[in-house]
Amino acid sequence: MSRIKPPDSLGTGGFWPAGGEIVGEKCAMAQVLMNGWIEYSLSKERFRLIATDFAAAMDDGLNGRPSSLQMLPAFVGRPAGNETGKYLALDFGGTNLRVAEVELCGTKKPRINKIHKVSLKPTGGGVDYTSANVDVDALFEFIAQQIAIVDDGTDALLLGHSFSYASQQTSLGRAKLVGWTKEIKVTGVAGQDINGLLSAALARQSIGNIQPVAVINDTTATLLAAAYSQPEADLGSVCGTGHNTCYYEDISHQEVSARVMAYNSESGGFDRLPFSAIDDQLDADSEYPGKQRLEKMVAGRYLGELTRRILLSGRSDCGMNFIDACPPFHRVDGISGIDVAAFVGDETTDLAGISFWLEKQLPGYSGSLAERHFIKAVAEMVVNRSAALIAASYAGFLLRMDPQQRRKHVVGINGSLYEKMPGFAIGIQRSLENLGGWNSEQVLFHLVDEAPLVGAAIAAAMAKDGKGW
Ligand code: GLC
Repeated sequence: MSRIKPPDSLGTGGFWPAGGEIVGEKCAMAQVLMNGWIEYSLSKERFRLIATDFAAAMDDGLNGRPSSLQMLPAFVGRPAGNETGKYLALDFGGTNLRVAEVELCGTKKPRINKIHKVSLKPTGGGVDYTSANVDVDALFEFIAQQIAIVDDGTDALLLGHSFSYASQQTSLGRAKLVGWTKEIKVTGVAGQDINGLLSAALARQSIGNIQPVAVINDTTATLLAAAYSQPEADLGSVCGTGHNTCYYEDISHQEVSARVMAYNSESGGFDRLPFSAIDDQLDADSEYPGKQRLEKMVAGRYLGELTRRILLSGRSDCGMNFIDACPPFHRVDGISGIDVAAFVGDETTDLAGISFWLEKQLPGYSGSLAERHFIKAVAEMVVNRSAALIAASYAGFLLRMDPQQRRKHVVGINGSLYEKMPGFAIGIQRSLENLGGWNSEQVLFHLVDEAPLVGAAIAAAMAKDGKGW
């Protein structure tokens, strides 16, 4: 009978017995996991190399040299924290569209008076507003209609727009979409002025009281919303369907009165990374091959698909032949980020959640305990790598902003992955500390509530006060 003694570095619990050997059925699985651990975990050296390469790519992007980081200027600095007033905020994200009336109250917590949320891709049928069957006019018509649901037409309101895609800004109020990411395919939008399209659609629907004055990336919105209440906030990051980070770049050397300007790095595009064969396959089969390589390793949109592909490709080595008959393993995106969260978060001793999931997919089969442990271990491996890679990118930003590690930093974060994936938030913090040497007193993580909406309202307020460029 085969036997395997797992290396101590893999720890104990779950798949790995305390101090013991693995025997029998689990041996093949253990071997696959150990190989995966080598491929999917980051050593200190690798972490630091990624951080250094990331900082170098930032510098290249900022100075017009070829780089996988776009480093897009946002034409907005730090809010004073005392901005006030009522604004309409629009959040065009990866999966939903939200419109809200947001009231900024100076130092107190912003109030969301009215909110309307609609899925861009309704599961129960209806138009899929992310697909190639929808064109630019239909999309903006739809957005204007959603605005009309919240706006009763009485007050004249300035609108701030959090638009979660790479856009080339020329001022706080104007930005052209560089290109879609996150598998969106709506035609005719790339290269167009986003708020111009919105203003035209509002005019077509005779909505005359709403004036779009600011358009920012969702990471910039997160940074503004964090900085509104915390002066030390200097990074804004989104860990959700997609992934990206924005930061304050020191521009005191330039001929402007502000000291810092927010830059959207489009960090999801970073590409000096240790890709596995599965990463390369997923990328080749995606809508935009070669693009968003970091995002495809870390973001919520892809964690289910990575888990599915790893399990599918390892099934024969592990004797998990039931996978051949289990439909979700044979469908692109057959496993979702929500499934991954359920696998990772299954804390029952017999992994009852995973057993229930299997039974639902393949009636009559709920897996052996070893198989369920294996599924959980693969999902954890994918999630841990995501957290470690994101932490490595943060270390890259910090290296640029504070190479001597002299200051305190606050990272404002928003997104479903950060909020809902078990172990994810702590995984980022631990990686930054253990692999990057930044302790949790120096770098604080702050979950920003409703960041896109609040940040969009702050951007509109700053535009009104003449504090954008
Ligand atoms: C994608 C977009 C980026 C956005 C991120 C998070 O990476 O390109 O602009 O910030 O998703 O939503």
